[in-house]
Order: sequence, then structure tokens, then C-alpha cells
Amino acid sequence: MNVCSIVGARPQFVKASVVTPALRKRCEEVLVHTGQHYDEELSDVFFDELGIPEPDYNLGVGSDSHGQQTADMIAGIEEIVERTSPDVLLLYGDTNSTLAGAVIGSKADVTLVHIEGGLRSYNREMPEEVNRVATDHLSDVSFVPCERAIENLEAEGITDDVYFTGDVMYDAILKARERARETSTILETHGLEPDEFILTTVHRASNTDDRSNLAAILDGLANAPLPVVFPAHPRTVSCLREYGLWERATSELEVIDPVGYLDFVRLLDAAERIATDSGGVQKEAFFLDTPCATLREETEWKATVSCGWNVIVGPHREPIEAALETEYRLENKPQPYGDGNASERIARLLESHVEDGEPLASE
Ligand code: UD1
Ligand code: UDP
Repeated sequence: MNVCSIVGARPQFVKASVVTPALRKRCEEVLVHTGQHYDEELSDVFFDELGIPEPDYNLGVGSDSHGQQTADMIAGIEEIVERTSPDVLLLYGDTNSTLAGAVIGSKADVTLVHIEGGLRSYNREMPEEVNRVATDHLSDVSFVPCERAIENLEAEGITDDVYFTGDVMYDAILKARERARETSTILETHGLEPDEFILTTVHRASNTDDRSNLAAILDGLANAPLPVVFPAHPRTVSCLREYGLWERATSELEVIDPVGYLDFVRLLDAAERIATDSGGVQKEAFFLDTPCATLREETEWKATVSCGWNVIVGPHREPIEAALETEYRLENKPQPYGDGNASERIARLLESHVEDGEPLASE
């Protein structure tokens, strides 16, 4: 079996760091980096720290409008698929890199496979929602992280070759947690004590591209009961500067550059709370028992909310303040995202699929 995997953005490197080794035990893999993320701290640091093999191809597309960026990726992926003739084209998540792969994979003679299929925010204003709906409808096989994703797909008529595997991000965090505790010095570097700070990340377009939302988030965080550490995505930094909010952000919060995965896991593990608009970070907070306030109006990761571990606060000052001050007594946490063996399960299922040429056998 010959698999061509497409990655391009930070969360996809984390996912590939566990799936790629599982695949390479069983088959040939061609790894394609679209170049959507290219800064050292958004890209190289993940490959170095997590031992992800050097990509076989880097399309170097960089930043651009959605249309131009996706078009460049489509052209680049098409050329590689023609050159390498993979049996499987493997996509992760919901970025423009995912969508570009889906467009090519749906027309080429490959099995198009979507890891993290079936998630829905039901907000079509989000570019990620458009990407994931299109990718799910074009894919031949969906590997889903939670049971709810199966229901979401069923509601849209997608019932064939949908497999619950668990979440590969859970696999990744189980591997990283102890290593991060042992090796990361991020707390010492920034003079932080465990349980004595709040962590925040903001990069979602609905927040960065709207001055009033960013300002309201700053208002909510400025009144937090503990110091707030903010590893800021470059997109957010440039918007804060453009809106004249940069001085305020840096005087009220500890704004730092984006950090590598192990440092981020250490921060998240030690934080008293997290406030984030990230998809992946909401789940990682849940895995690490850190209560989360989600700076959006809805989430794809509904199980983290229904058990009380995650609170939807939107980009609104008062709910943010309330969530950061509330005492949580959270017990009986469910385990909706599998058992930490999603990547092995995915690799096994793919191998049997390609060898037998039959629909995948569910476990
Ligand atoms: C992308 C994904 C988003 C994902 C996020 C992970 C899409 C539509 N969005 O958002 O789903 O949650 O990655 O972090 O695919 N930039 C840099 N350096 C880089 C990359 C980007 O400075 O290495 C800046 C550029 O100004 C760029 C902006 O960030 O225009 C946005 O980058 P882009 O990749 O388009 O989207 P993200 O916001 O990173
Ligand atoms: N992350 C990181 N350093 C940071 C911020 C995030 O390593 O400074 C990791 C985080 O642990 C998670 C992934 O990046 O695994 C999430 O990426 P992001 O929030 O950018 O994207 P999303 O999950 O929202 O698509």
C-alpha cells in the first residue's frame, strides 16, 4: 500500500506525528507539506520535536487569499498524485490544505480518506466548516474521533465506510504529557507556577478579523484573577497591531511567541484555566483536566461542553470573566474520544482495506 498524506498547518503536524509512524510500520508513505504554515514556530519546531519525517515534498504555497492559496495547493497536490500514483490520499481536519487534497483526491484514482471526519459546528460562516463539509462529502472513507460525528454524517446521508477510531490528538497528548513534564522549561522561562496562571490562544477568523471581538476578549482577560499567558498566532499579532490594540494586549497580558508542542502541552497541563478559540486546544484541555472557556459561539467538540468541562463564552467580556472566576468541581469525566490508539487503528484499517479491496472491516 502506498499512502500520500497531506499536511500544512500546525494541528495537522501534531496529528501526523502519531499517524505517520503507525502507517510506516505497514506501508510506504509520501508526506506532502503544502507550506500553508511556514514560520519556524508554526512548522519546523513540530517536525523537530515530534520526530516527524522530513516531508517528501513542500509546495511552499505560503499565505494568500483563500482562493489563491487553495488553488496553488490543488495544482501542487495534483502533480504529486500524478507522479506518485498513491493507493490512498490521506487528509486531516478542516484547513485549506485539507480541502485542496479533497478536490484532487475525489477526481483521481485513489481512496480518499479523511481523518477527523464528521465534525460540525453548524456555522457556515467558518471557513473550516465549509472545508470539512466538502471534504466529508468527497471522501471515500471517514475516520471519526467520536460517536457524535457518526450521527452528524448520517444526517447528511454519509453512512458507508465511516469508522469510529477515536481521536488521534488524544494519542498525541498521551505520548507528550510526561515528556513535556520532564523536559519543558517553559514555566521557569516565564516565571510561572503551576495552577497560578491562565493560558489563552486566539486565532479564529471570526475573532481576529473583527476589532470589537478582539477588544471584548481583551476586556474579559484583563480582569482575570490570575496572570494570563498568551502565545499569540502571527495572524492575531498583526490584527492587534492594525487595530491599535497591541500596546494594551502586551501591557495587560504576557504575550509570547507561539511555542512548540511540548511547551504548549506543559503550559496547558499546568494552567488553572484556558480561554481559547482553537478546536484542538479545547480537546487538549479536556484531556489534561484543565477547565476551558471557549471564545466562540459554538463548538464541534460538544461532549466537552455537555459534561461541564468546557463553557461556551463567545467573544464577550462578562461570560469570559465569569468563566475564569468560577470554581469547578468536575467529576465523572466521560471518554468520548477513544482509548489513545486511534492512529494504530487507522493504519490497520487502511492496510486491510487496500489489501482486500473490500470495504473496511469495523472492529
Ligand atoms: C489555519 C486554518 C485553521 C487552523 C489554523 C491552525 C484555514 C482556513 N485555516 O488558520 O483552520 O485552525 O491554521 O493554526 O485553513 N501566518 C504567518 N506565518 C505562518 C502562517 C501564517 O505569519 O507560518 C499569518 C499570515 O499573515 C497569514 C495568516 O497568518 O495570512 C493566516 O494564516 P492561514 O494559514 O491562512 O490561516 P490560519 O489563521 O493560520
Ligand atoms: N499549539 C502549540 N503551540 C501554540 C499553540 C498551539 O503547539 O503556541 C498546538 C496545540 O497543542 C494543538 C495545536 O497546536 O495541538 C492546535 O493548533 P491551533 O489552535 O492553531 O489550530 P486548531 O486546532 O484550532 O485548528
